[in-house]
Amino acid sequence: MGTERKKLVAGNWKMYKTPGEAVSLVTQILAAPPPRSDREVVVCPPFVALSRVAHLLKGSPVKLGAQNVYWEKEGAFTGEVSASMLREVGCEYVIVGHSERRQYFADDNPAVARKLRAVVEEGMSPILCIGEKLEEREAGRTQDVIRSHIEGALGEFDARYLRGLVVAYEPVWAIGTGKTATPEMAVEAHRFARKLLGEMFGVAFGVETRILYGGSVKPENAAELLKEPEIDGALVGGASLKVDSFLRIAAA
Ligand code: 13P
Repeated sequence: MGTERKKLVAGNWKMYKTPGEAVSLVTQILAAPPPRSDREVVVCPPFVALSRVAHLLKGSPVKLGAQNVYWEKEGAFTGEVSASMLREVGCEYVIVGHSERRQYFADDNPAVARKLRAVVEEGMSPILCIGEKLEEREAGRTQDVIRSHIEGALGEFDARYLRGLVVAYEPVWAIGTGKTATPEMAVEAHRFARKLLGEMFGVAFGVETRILYGGSVKPENAAELLKEPEIDGALVGGASLKVDSFLRIAAA
């Protein structure tokens, strides 16, 4: 067992791209040379575009992810989307606990844990987002926040349910701000998160779990982040909305 974690570059499109625009972007992505074989590439369009994008991705190496999920299997939950629905349209990944969900939609740790359970029960891989706000970093609380996000989301799981887990360290102050964490800051946070995963689920689990960095990743800074063995990929927001910048990051 080595640290052979395949680097993963995922585009979180957030609330951008109509289904028609999504088709156009994915068509352009697929027209480019396929991702390098040592990379996994995932796109996470809005719910309403998933089905059309899934259709285009069939037979391609690019994978599909969703940005959110509701934890109940089905029921009278107006406006929500279940994990089995996402599974059926072809999602392999689901982002849970994104800071925008935590901030605007009250997704707290218990909610994130329930969503994560729903995702793994459907055999998909959760991309669990963690990360501190600026004031938390300045108060020296970065590690406390990482611990709270990881323990809060994963504390009640048994390791065997979490085999596909991906963690995304996204310092909130770096999201959409143009401020990227330095590779040193990211590596320090990733090491801490990995150590914690190791303590919770065994060293092998920590070593095998991919930890992505997210927050103002661009073609200009992707290479210096991705060259760190501790950084297993990127969760890209703004720069994933244009074919050129996304592909340059995926190839960095
Ligand atoms: P930006 O790349 O736009 O900073 O967004 C990062 C992010 O939130 C990805 O989930």
